[in-house]
Amino acid sequence: MSSYVTRKTPGDTAWFTASRFGMFIHWGLYAMPARHEWVKTRERIPEEKYDKYFKYFDPDLYDAKEWAKRAKAAGMKYAVMTTKHHEGFCMFDSAYTDYKCTNTPAGRDLIREYVDAFRAEGLHVGFYYSLIDWHHPSFPIDQLHPRRDDKDAYEQSKDRDMKVYAQYMRDQVRELLTNYGKIDVLWFDFSYGDPEKGSTYDNGWMKGKSKDAWESEKLIALARELQPGIIIDNRAGIDQDLWTPEQYQPLDWIRHKETGELVTWEACQTFSGSWGYYRDESTWKSPEMLIRMLINTVSLGGNLLMNVGPTSRGYMDKRAVDALGVYENWMKYNSRSIYNCTMAEPEFAAPADTRLTQSVDGKRLYVHLYAYPYAHLQLKGLAGKVDYAQFLHDGSELKFTEGGVNHFSEGAAKGDDLLVIELPPVKPDVVVPVIELFLK
Ligand code: GLC
Repeated sequence: MSSYVTRKTPGDTAWFTASRFGMFIHWGLYAMPARHEWVKTRERIPEEKYDKYFKYFDPDLYDAKEWAKRAKAAGMKYAVMTTKHHEGFCMFDSAYTDYKCTNTPAGRDLIREYVDAFRAEGLHVGFYYSLIDWHHPSFPIDQLHPRRDDKDAYEQSKDRDMKVYAQYMRDQVRELLTNYGKIDVLWFDFSYGDPEKGSTYDNGWMKGKSKDAWESEKLIALARELQPGIIIDNRAGIDQDLWTPEQYQPLDWIRHKETGELVTWEACQTFSGSWGYYRDESTWKSPEMLIRMLINTVSLGGNLLMNVGPTSRGYMDKRAVDALGVYENWMKYNSRSIYNCTMAEPEFAAPADTRLTQSVDGKRLYVHLYAYPYAHLQLKGLAGKVDYAQFLHDGSELKFTEGGVNHFSEGAAKGDDLLVIELPPVKPDVVVPVIELFLK
């Protein structure tokens, strides 16, 4: 059994850490301007102008079943979709606002279709819910808000009552966690501090927003009451189940900043440089990067939530489909080194250009080859511990010797603890080949 113990959390994370790989879906009106999900605030777009997107939002090609099939084929075991992003637009039918998809040409509850389709494919279902809201009339203007540079920003903001908005969030979270059956993940986003000292927005009245402003305690208590086992992230400003490194890859298993305990963590990443559909963005990651990010994450005991930003017409564009295809091709043959796997026990050291994962039951060790070595892979400390070795993708035997490289010449590596795997000279046609070691 794995010796790593993580900090206890209120939700049920067993299925989650066994799953390791999920799909993030950022979909909203911002898919129409198609230049980042923060476009409303980046370009300080006024309501009247942003309303054009509301008026014409028509995802006529949305087929949630197809999305769910793609996620499943890619090896993803769960999904988290935006029910509302910072723009404030609701992708579900809420009784507390008119600013929702059912009032656009879409004419239907898009979240309902997502939930039904993903659940039908056997995937766990999660909701992203933005704490930030750049549409709600009670949400006070701050340094991130689209109206922050208006001359009369203070006038516009001074009567806005955060309490009213906090109640609105509770009402909506109640809807989301009541009307759609069992929900497995709730992903709040996000808390932030006051404007930087000396910046334009450090004007005495613009304030950051964190747990007190959101009334996070009440919000979380409500969520737990409605869905007791649900996994909740930390971004409402109170430690819950999930630590969420975003757009960077940790180099160690994340630890709790006060207690030093290992925590349950999930890296969230994008295929390119944006969460929402961004037509002209071109920093799409290579197949190697995509696969390595997943392996790196699991090799440090984490999950990967990989994002797709569908188009406003409701389909995943070719670039996204291709990226999902990279995972599909690799996971079809190699998922055994991902599911139910975690960081390898400290006694196993990864040779140069490799990453290790180990099955949670401790019985199998996986060596991921980032650079393909010529003819031999030397593993220190493994002599006497391996019963059988094979390539994972095709289950073909890999012979090994113990005590050193099997060659008469002087200088060939020797060492009692050395296990040497003999590899074919040419790298198999797999983005990252994996060696599966059955331990004694
Ligand atoms: C951020 C961004 C956002 C994205 C999220 C995903 O904090 O505000 O647009 O939804 O991260 O992690």
